[in-house]
Amino acid sequence: MVIAPSILNINNLNLGKDIQMAIDCGISRFHIDIMDGHFVPNLSFGPQLVSDFKKTFPTTEVEVHLMSNNPDVLVPAFVKAGAQIVLLHYEAMNENKLNYWLDYLKENNVKAGLVLNPDTAISVLQKFLGKVDQILLMTVYPGFGGQEFIPESSSRIKQAVSLSTGKVPIEVDGGINKQTAKIAKDAGAKIFVAGSYLFCQNSIKKQITELEGILQ
Ligand code: DX5
Ligand code: ZN
Repeated sequence: MVIAPSILNINNLNLGKDIQMAIDCGISRFHIDIMDGHFVPNLSFGPQLVSDFKKTFPTTEVEVHLMSNNPDVLVPAFVKAGAQIVLLHYEAMNENKLNYWLDYLKENNVKAGLVLNPDTAISVLQKFLGKVDQILLMTVYPGFGGQEFIPESSSRIKQAVSLSTGKVPIEVDGGINKQTAKIAKDAGAKIFVAGSYLFCQNSIKKQITELEGILQ
């Protein structure tokens, strides 16, 4: 089980400090949400944040969750910035383009992931199974942190596990806390993104320890 904290809801002026605190608790991968104001109605970070992250925390893995329909500009920019994993939305581009960028990531030794919104059929994964290192199922509609986990996600996770015959790790993102992490884990998820649950309470250490306890 992997916990990949989302830094979206950290007070931006405390980013370095809070990331360091999570690393001190044993976190080795972070989830960076990229929102372009078009694909989702919000703006977040750009490539500079990723390259600053890699300069400051060189041994910590970065996965970029690209919520943008401008992959032509942004995928190469995030690869250049040092992202080790790039997650692309099925809904953000046509299938030819998706295939092109998944191949591009492979060629550049960057892990590739496919992301599905809560209302996209799980069956679309079939065509891409051979090309992806992980599958991210959104458990909220993307755009904002602090939303509630959609209960139907549990059966979607089970469907994705069965479709991929357990060979591709399933990741969940949105509304993950103690209770929903357990639901997602029981359904077969292996990678857990959590933002506000980890960074918007009193103690980051306490929250990470609690989530780890559930995922053991
Ligand atoms: C939503 C983002 C998530 C989000 C998670 O669009 O993709 O990564 O920041 O935040 P919480 O854990 O607060 O739902
Ligand atoms: Zn995300």
